Amino acid sequence: MNTPSPQTPSTMKTPTPTAAENSTALATSSWWQHGVVYQIYIRSFADGNGDGEGDLTGLRSRLDYLATLGVDAVWINPWYASPMRDGGYDVADYRAIDPRFGNITEAEQFIEEAHARGIRVIADLVPNHTSSDHVWFQEALAAPPGDPARERYIFRPGAGDGSEPPSNWESVFGGSTWTRVADGEWYLHIFDPSQPDLNWEHPEVRDEFDAIFRFWLDRGIDGFRIDVAHGLIKDMAFPDVDGRTDLLEAEHPVDHPHWDRDGVHPIIRRWRSIVDEYDDRMMLAEAWVHAERLPLYLRPDEYHQAFNFDLLDATWSADSFGRIIGRSLDAAQAVGATSTWVLSNHDVVRHATRYGLPNDLAWRRWISDGPTSALDREVGSRRARAAALVTLALPGSTYIYQGEELGLHEVADLPTDVLQDPVWERSGQTERGRDGCRVPIPWTEEGPSFGFGADAAWLPQPTSFGAQSVEAQDRDPNSMLTLYRAAIALRRSRFPGDLHLTFVEMGTDILAWMRGDDILVVANMSPSAVAIPPNGDVLLASAPTLNGMLPPDAAAWIDIQS
Ligand code: BGC
Repeated sequence: MNTPSPQTPSTMKTPTPTAAENSTALATSSWWQHGVVYQIYIRSFADGNGDGEGDLTGLRSRLDYLATLGVDAVWINPWYASPMRDGGYDVADYRAIDPRFGNITEAEQFIEEAHARGIRVIADLVPNHTSSDHVWFQEALAAPPGDPARERYIFRPGAGDGSEPPSNWESVFGGSTWTRVADGEWYLHIFDPSQPDLNWEHPEVRDEFDAIFRFWLDRGIDGFRIDVAHGLIKDMAFPDVDGRTDLLEAEHPVDHPHWDRDGVHPIIRRWRSIVDEYDDRMMLAEAWVHAERLPLYLRPDEYHQAFNFDLLDATWSADSFGRIIGRSLDAAQAVGATSTWVLSNHDVVRHATRYGLPNDLAWRRWISDGPTSALDREVGSRRARAAALVTLALPGSTYIYQGEELGLHEVADLPTDVLQDPVWERSGQTERGRDGCRVPIPWTEEGPSFGFGADAAWLPQPTSFGAQSVEAQDRDPNSMLTLYRAAIALRRSRFPGDLHLTFVEMGTDILAWMRGDDILVVANMSPSAVAIPPNGDVLLASAPTLNGMLPPDAAAWIDIQS
């Protein structure tokens, strides 16, 4: 490790504000504009009935944990009746809770209990496709070609003599987007064959989703995360395209035949008018689109917010983080929206692991190809602590993926016979997929499934989880959990509710900005220690400061006394 050495004196004392970038004093007023939202992958959060999978009973028993953490809202990954071929993103019945998670009554109790603690609930809605077990798809399969029952989905004859798929489109999970049924027609599925795409040109599909929105709004849901919000509309001429589209890839060519087509916008407006019939509810888009196209989704009569996934691809450098933060704030402000900040979610390698890999190693490939020796867990863990103080100090809303507050790493060595992500099979067993970030949460240091609630969790937990459990971290004043709790509380009490951020220059590879008049946020991404301004009082730091110096791979919030 490098010996910490101070930055040059000219950069170490008083931070200099740069141009008045991102200084719009637009006030944030609604809960979702500046909230801390905790993402719950329900299958892996807490198991109340001991069957190895998380459920509503378990989740309800842990609501006080979430209240103590201080989050404003939770977003629950799909909890609907589902055969779980894609972790619940294959919905068989949008008005039923999957029996493995509970039932509607329990969902209503959960919403009520969350509200009683001041926590809002965001549901995950999946409109692009249903499960192949959905009654509509079963009706479509039972009907002959040309039957109206097939029109709710996208069935077509094959190309050539009919034995070729109608287009060369490749599924996000690998393989063709077309699957042939017994009578010779083909149906479209942008994801797994068990996820047939709905035909959003069909009035019944539109009406059905209106009713589904109302069903959940009437049960008290505060917001919706809309899955694959840039899908829905396809070019029904099915022109061939070049290459496969990764799920987490925004760089689609413009005028792509199934991503980001203009026809999605009238659908969004229709949903928005329903959501607006209710008080203070919101819609959030998962839209992987070009940065210049995203504002279209945020027009006043469309989504309230869209996920900003840019930080997922940031390398560990002040330049990379700074550019993304500046650009994201500018883009959001240009359309009167607030930005969202995401370091991890159920689709990507956990960031404690990403940050332990060399900057030039693509983590998307590393997860399948290694080498494991490239990972420095300790560095990754240190940087994950710093990253928490970076994202929680930004204007806008911050999304925390369950387990990141415990500093969990990707479980990159799950035995292949337990892998459940369809990516594994669809890629011909060359891509491990996303199970490694979905391993159940450790609640206790010891005991079966580390207190998750079963003899054995549905994905095996590594032994390292014990030391990272909630129980272990609860009593440790220096733990990641303690850091998150303190940061969320300070964010609430000390950070201004506006969108003002002013970058300050503190030296090479130091990311720094002011919030309000008195709080300086510093992230040291350089290999040397950096001096904290002498008039500064450290409110919170991700690593101990020594003799007024902030070590490498650390961040701090500093009260600058005048
Ligand atoms: C979800 C994934 C899912 C896919 C298909 C994504 O946006 O986050 O987990 O596999 O949509 O529904």
